[in-house]
Amino acid sequence: MAEENGRMVMVASPFQGHMTPMLQLGTYLHSKGFSITIAHPEFNSPDSSNHPDFIFLPLPDNLSGPGSFTSFFGFLQALNNNCKPHLREHLVQIMKEESVVIIYDILMVFGGSLAVDLGLPSIIMNSSSAAFFPAYKIIPQLHKEGRFPVHDSLLDEIVPELKPIRYKDLPFIDLPTQDAIESAKMITPDTPPSAFIWNTLEFLEPSTLTQVRQQYQVPIFTIGPLHKTSPTRFTSFLEKDTSCITWLDKQKPKSVIYVSLGSMANLDKNVATETAWGLVNSNQSFLWVVRPGSVHGYEWFEFLEEGLVDEIKVRGLIVKWAPQKEVLAHNAVGGFWSHCGWNSTLESVSEGVPMLCQPFSVDQLMNARYLSHVWKIGIEIVVEKTEIKDAIKRLLVDKEMKQRAIEVQENVKLALNHGGSSHNALKDLEEYILSL
Ligand code: UDX
Repeated sequence: MAEENGRMVMVASPFQGHMTPMLQLGTYLHSKGFSITIAHPEFNSPDSSNHPDFIFLPLPDNLSGPGSFTSFFGFLQALNNNCKPHLREHLVQIMKEESVVIIYDILMVFGGSLAVDLGLPSIIMNSSSAAFFPAYKIIPQLHKEGRFPVHDSLLDEIVPELKPIRYKDLPFIDLPTQDAIESAKMITPDTPPSAFIWNTLEFLEPSTLTQVRQQYQVPIFTIGPLHKTSPTRFTSFLEKDTSCITWLDKQKPKSVIYVSLGSMANLDKNVATETAWGLVNSNQSFLWVVRPGSVHGYEWFEFLEEGLVDEIKVRGLIVKWAPQKEVLAHNAVGGFWSHCGWNSTLESVSEGVPMLCQPFSVDQLMNARYLSHVWKIGIEIVVEKTEIKDAIKRLLVDKEMKQRAIEVQENVKLALNHGGSSHNALKDLEEYILSL
């Protein structure tokens, strides 16, 4: 459907944590009179029937996911190379009829190069924290100075340029060196786009945002948290099991720990079993999302021995995929045990729910550091080393942490109110696009 304000071609990446905010942004812009095309790789396609107002443009990618690649950079390269020709063809056609702005996911860098080739304005959409950006950008420099790959003696030290991030929190630290450097270079361009859209809030990361603004000298629109600024019901690749809400209705206020490690993290059997024992031994009620296939070698939770399953049933509920935003907003939930993906982080801080932080990779390590060290509403855990039952108890009873979580939630509300930073940023973004 063509709207009066021109067409946004939104180049989405195929991951849940990236697709969701892109669809939310599309929903907002459509409500403001922009036509929306979601251009997306064919694998992990969103369900177009949930967004009848958008045009969906599947981009042939010949890929089945990052798993079939030995390097992340190789995957990113193939994704970008394979998707580019079809989008180019499409853009050349539609440019004849309407004005076009490209909004592209940070991983889909071909969106930016097509914009340059075709003389179109482009905006980068960031679905991670602002802090992750300078951290990626500095990796090639750290390598030149002999600080990457990180020597064991440095792991617990703070990276002076990225306070309070430690070397061990750096993104891509788990990748082979060359893979990390090439990937970092690819997603942090030297040439700035026209602007950045960031799913974050000014008050959460003021100094990093100042740093990125100084570095790029282009507008940065901090419009988060998108699940609040533009609630969009259907963004999930997996089906949500809503029966857990009825279960939550029967639990005492703030008594339940919600456990979910996002859409990508995988565990081995030992860590998953430790998780189960930690939950059972805490004597707290818990709702545990075990994503099918997320425990190596098992379809769902068959790795749990029978006796343990019986123990779990006393106070716990396991589901395959939860309606996470509703769960976190439920009065029964007192804590969130999370991998600290950025969406999960924003969803939790928006509801004033403190977190147990079990980060795996990419930006999650940095998010966990901010949660525990800067905002002080999270406790970092290493399942194999931490006494889980004690950490859960602390999370649920620590009054000061709860109070801080509520203060952060209040600040989120202020940012969303009329005149608040996210509210203003959305207005500014709309005006900016119209001025292009
Ligand atoms: C990925 C990266 O892991 C993350 O670090 C990066 O910031 C974004 O991309 P993912 O692992 O999926 O994302 O985590 P996250 O960003 O937290 O997104 C998960 C989304 O799935 C959230 O919006 C959450 O509400 C949703 N979800 C998760 C559900 O709806 N149900 C569930 O049971 C679990």
